[in-house]
Amino acid sequence: MVKPTLPQFPEPIWRESLSLPKFPKLNDSIKTDVAIIGGGITGITAAYLLSKQNLKVALLDAGSILNGTTGHTTAKITAQHGLIYDELIQHFGLEKASLYYHAAEEAKQFIEEVVRKKGIECSLRTEDAYLYTNNDTYVEKIEKEKDAYDKLKINSKLMDTIPLSIPVKAALVMQAQAQFHPLNYLNALVEESLQESVTVYENTTAVDIEYNKHPSVITRDGHRVTCRYVIVASHFPFYDRESFYFTRMFSERSYLIAGMVPNDFSGGMYINAESPTRSIRSVKLHDDKEFLLIGGENHKTGQGESTIAHYEALQKFANVHFQLDKIDYRWSAQDLTTLDKVPYIGPTMKDEDAVLVATGYRKWGMTNGTIAAKILSDTILRKENPYADLFKPSRFQADPSVKKFMQVNADVAKHLLKGKLEFTKDTVNDLKTDDATVTRIDGNRVGVYKDENSKLHMVDTTCTHLGCEVEWNSGERSWDCPCHGSRFSYTGEVLDGPAKKPLKRIKN
Ligand code: FES
Repeated sequence: MVKPTLPQFPEPIWRESLSLPKFPKLNDSIKTDVAIIGGGITGITAAYLLSKQNLKVALLDAGSILNGTTGHTTAKITAQHGLIYDELIQHFGLEKASLYYHAAEEAKQFIEEVVRKKGIECSLRTEDAYLYTNNDTYVEKIEKEKDAYDKLKINSKLMDTIPLSIPVKAALVMQAQAQFHPLNYLNALVEESLQESVTVYENTTAVDIEYNKHPSVITRDGHRVTCRYVIVASHFPFYDRESFYFTRMFSERSYLIAGMVPNDFSGGMYINAESPTRSIRSVKLHDDKEFLLIGGENHKTGQGESTIAHYEALQKFANVHFQLDKIDYRWSAQDLTTLDKVPYIGPTMKDEDAVLVATGYRKWGMTNGTIAAKILSDTILRKENPYADLFKPSRFQADPSVKKFMQVNADVAKHLLKGKLEFTKDTVNDLKTDDATVTRIDGNRVGVYKDENSKLHMVDTTCTHLGCEVEWNSGERSWDCPCHGSRFSYTGEVLDGPAKKPLKRIKN
């Protein structure tokens, strides 16, 4: 069988035939009630909720709205977040595990209700979610997860097959979950919010927050957004204020491909329990064409093999199990995981609720992002929220947080040292077009990318966050940091934080 080729450039399926509105850059200092940093699901949903309460909101995005993690998701709306509930019961107890489930369920109901009430066309479909394994050692974990579901009274079934032709030893079904087209849904929320009291600014990078009587968000251009509350929903919080999020989260990249389904797809949303991850769903786009989405191949950012190899592994899986004729889209995503796997949502400092943060959704941004928007808008409106305590960023769980903290930071120390001692042998002369290498110039480690016109783009590979050495990501043509997941374009611009400053460009 001939293997379908991969598209040359990454592009998520969600942008197909969708024209999103464009917004101006902020070019003055302004005053507002709430400043929201980040135009993804959290920021947009929070803006929507607050605008309904007549609060003036300024939504700022460093690039274009809906172009970050939210624009690169699989868009499953489910409380089935992989293997999680047995672990949550062990570490947090039954009550908090139950709250976690109900938070996700409430987020799902919120999305369903908004879609129904507003009549939003976003391919929302009720689907069962399957967590499956074909690995003997994971069968017991799936069974334990089923016990956890039963304790939490989650509607589910244990099975030994799934409706796909994939070999399976055990599967756990969470019934009546959902999937949708995330950008069609959020675009409708943006349109409605603009009618109310929300103003959106794109290409406006927030770099700091200053306190006087009220907080002011400072932009890279030196403008100031003075407000009563700030919501930091910029994926990796751009503002830390001694919260040290980079020591309390790690970042992973994962990959997705999509192609038209050759035969009828039986429906359902699937994810396996073991590694490498395989996440599967379908989506009907324009003309009723049904595409299959296959994701997985997670690895720590900056620590994978050649990233194209990850796409190829998904392509092979698609070829074996679904006989796709063509891969129409490929794209990747960056996800952040906290030490105890529960997102950080709430005031960034314990006794200070003017600056609120939401981050660390693992791979479950549709439900976690929606509940984050509800918790943060309730905080601003001084309304009790039953989930606020579970997610508060200042919590500390001795187990598993301490162990995970040690692992995450030992890994950072290892990569910091490795990059500094690394011997580089490639020379720029051997470099093909659309490829990169690391070399030394005057003793300094330099990353060189040769573009398709043979122009060289050279950057100092020392990450501007805390000085680890970035690695080349061939699939996305970016320089990725193995320590805390910052990413930079081949010209050095910041693509993902925690870094705020670009890589230093080297003249050639
Ligand atoms: Fe922290 Fe690079 S992201 S050193």
